[in-house]
Amino acid sequence: MASQSGTPNTAIVGLQWGDEGKGKFVDVLAAEHDVVVRFNGGANAGHTIVVEGEKLALHLMPSAVLNPNCELVIANGTVIDPGILVKEIELVESRGLSLEGRFHVSSRAHVVLPWHSLLDGAAEARLSDRGEAIGTTKRGIGPAYADKIGRSMAIRMGDLLDEAYLRTHLEKIAPLRLEELKVAGNDSTIDTEALLADLTTLGERLRPYITDTTWLLHDRVNEKRSLLFEGANACLLDVDHGTYPFVTSSNASALGISPGTGLPAKTLGRVVGVVKAYSTRVGGGPFPTELDDATGDRIRDRGREYGTTTGRPRRCGWIDLVALRYAAMVCGADSLAITLLDVLSGFDEIRLCTNYKTASGEILDRFPPDARLLEECTPVYESHPGWAEEIDQCKSISELPPACQSYLKSLQSHLGVPIEFISVGPDRRQTMRCPQKQSCRDDSCCVPGPLENA
Ligand code: IMP
Repeated sequence: MASQSGTPNTAIVGLQWGDEGKGKFVDVLAAEHDVVVRFNGGANAGHTIVVEGEKLALHLMPSAVLNPNCELVIANGTVIDPGILVKEIELVESRGLSLEGRFHVSSRAHVVLPWHSLLDGAAEARLSDRGEAIGTTKRGIGPAYADKIGRSMAIRMGDLLDEAYLRTHLEKIAPLRLEELKVAGNDSTIDTEALLADLTTLGERLRPYITDTTWLLHDRVNEKRSLLFEGANACLLDVDHGTYPFVTSSNASALGISPGTGLPAKTLGRVVGVVKAYSTRVGGGPFPTELDDATGDRIRDRGREYGTTTGRPRRCGWIDLVALRYAAMVCGADSLAITLLDVLSGFDEIRLCTNYKTASGEILDRFPPDARLLEECTPVYESHPGWAEEIDQCKSISELPPACQSYLKSLQSHLGVPIEFISVGPDRRQTMRCPQKQSCRDDSCCVPGPLENA
């Protein structure tokens, strides 16, 4: 579906295990859309924005906050720690960015409560004793979504505005959760009165923003405004379609948009899948192309691959086309944004995983549905010559070294999805774009064709 200006409603989602550099493309695409919508996840996501040379790390606020013409929506599919959200609002406002009248938080979104992060930490500690930790961000994401699905122990953002209801509900929930924490080996005490006072104050601070975003978003669609859906986390971390159980607890692929916003699937016009030129993963879980060697270390150093939310070093490896073909299919990617291509300069050889080999020697081209099956897979690589030159100042595809152009062409033809964007550095200006954008299906045009500076 397209807006008055003809811009289709667009989703921007990561196709790997997160940290693909989505924020920059949200920034680029926000300029073409009226409303930016977060539909999943919580403060487990992280992006850094630069305001007058100063870096601000945000976790909940949509990254398009810098664009004063964009309306910002945190929709019902998210889980929100209200303390973190208020801090982010204050941080953003203190830098002179106004949110008045343009920022909306769903009354249906669920609240992350203090026991959620404690329970998350306790569960991880238990699993880690058995060497089975998921490696979560310990932001309480799993326990908050578990309460949402469980229904009787949850609090939603709208509940923060009803003190009497909140009191009755908290008095019922708190003792049960504290008991559960004790069983999990955590003797924390939480003063229910103090928590009630805290949540009521935070609710009052957030009152101007909390609203029924389902109606608001339908109104915007009817007004023919264009929407940009900003996915948090990434497709392979999707609770239904990712490498379960080493996933997050929300639908982090493009499939999460409908349930996470209340908009019908047909609202979505196109999907841009963001793909790092190599692979990374934070936390546990299978990662067939992981490089536990000097090459992996070199990718980590060049790509500054350390988590925005937790600071953890990311696991690094070659690009995995089996996983990407699957993720592009599940998300319905219409075009690709290739990021961090500059990190690959200086390698003699670059590898692309085109297939998996199972323990029994079978060659797979389809991504398996189970983490245990994936754990048994080893990568089958296609070798590609590297390039020595730094490319971070290249302004068009024709300036990229021939081996780099040919790497992009290989990616595009293996994935069967046109490359719309190429990023060779963190700055907005270090971005190239295919002039025909999403409509281009012509392999000879996109890569290595007439790509232009964005
Ligand atoms: P949780 O979302 O904190 O429960 O973490 C579950 C898994 O998803 C862990 O492996 C995390 O490292 C990973 N994860 C969650 N959010 C992100 C993200 O935004 N980028 C990368 N990994 C993430």
